[in-house]
Amino acid sequence: MIKQQLERFNRLELLGGATALEKLERLSAWLGRDIYVKRDDTTPLAMGGNKLRKLEYLAADALAQGADTLVTAGAIQSNHVRQTAALAAKLGLGCVALLENPTGTDDPNYLGNGNRLLVELFDAKVELVENLDNADEQLHALAERLRSNGKTPYLVPIGGSNALGALGYVRAGLELAGQIQDSGLQFAAVVLASGSAGTHSGLALALSEVLPDLPVIGVTVSRTDEAQRPKVQGLAERTAQLLGVAVPDAFKVILWDEYFAPRYGEPNAGTLAAIKLLASQEGLLLDPVYTGKAMAGLLDGIGRDAFGEGPIIFLHTGGAPALFAYDSVF
Ligand SMILES: Cc1ncc(COP(=O)(O)O)c(C=O)c1O
Repeated sequence: MIKQQLERFNRLELLGGATALEKLERLSAWLGRDIYVKRDDTTPLAMGGNKLRKLEYLAADALAQGADTLVTAGAIQSNHVRQTAALAAKLGLGCVALLENPTGTDDPNYLGNGNRLLVELFDAKVELVENLDNADEQLHALAERLRSNGKTPYLVPIGGSNALGALGYVRAGLELAGQIQDSGLQFAAVVLASGSAGTHSGLALALSEVLPDLPVIGVTVSRTDEAQRPKVQGLAERTAQLLGVAVPDAFKVILWDEYFAPRYGEPNAGTLAAIKLLASQEGLLLDPVYTGKAMAGLLDGIGRDAFGEGPIIFLHTGGAPALFAYDSVF
């Protein structure tokens, strides 16, 4: 049902095929528990990450509307802004981004290296703002300014997380379900970072239809369960509505919110330990803002026996370019 409905939507084919689902052999042996990773960190554009899946739908819409400029917002080290700016360059569009400094750091690598350096190379225009507390209004005001200068802007929300962008992760959920079915394994859960929620909502929506018994666990990176729950639930409902389907009965929002402290953009000891563990055991790079926190949750979940029987899937959503902005924490 979801699959047929999804085919009605325009999509730029940018991924070039499924990302791998692979077993982390050494980590699994070390933990005594099989861990698989879905490699969305390897999507093909500009050092990879989850946003390209959302942008396949959003950029198709932008082109259909005749836009000449992608407008978006995020943290100075936003992976989303990096991938949006890269895609704008690839498509010959302009890109303007509002950037905030969420932790107030003056670390020169945070301010100029990592994703921020790449955004500069992609030739995006950047406007630094005090905060993004009213991001939608701020983006609309920017779009209005661009229009009055003769531009045709297309507004990409923070994280690409509206219903259209979330279709990218509905599609990823169907792709992953196929890989799970092909593996013949009974997985205990899928674990991922839950931020602006498009990844979590889209993935959980698709998996709840195809594999209704498989828990999808979102480890929050910036909010409590109470604050994140309506974002994930609401976006899943709007995405189902856009698709013209009902939210499946099995759809459930599962959130672990014990791993994001002290706040968004600031890693804790568990985050750093998870990053070092995956790097040293597997040569796999996580990031200090999203996947390091999500993996810390997965590892702790094993320790406290929070999973049912079977191997666990970690959705690797990317983010490693931010490591070069966070060298001082290691
Ligand atoms: C590396 C990485 N992982 C996970 C996420 C979270 O995805 P979402 O914003 O769809 O919840 C992001 C979002 O910026 C990200 O950059």
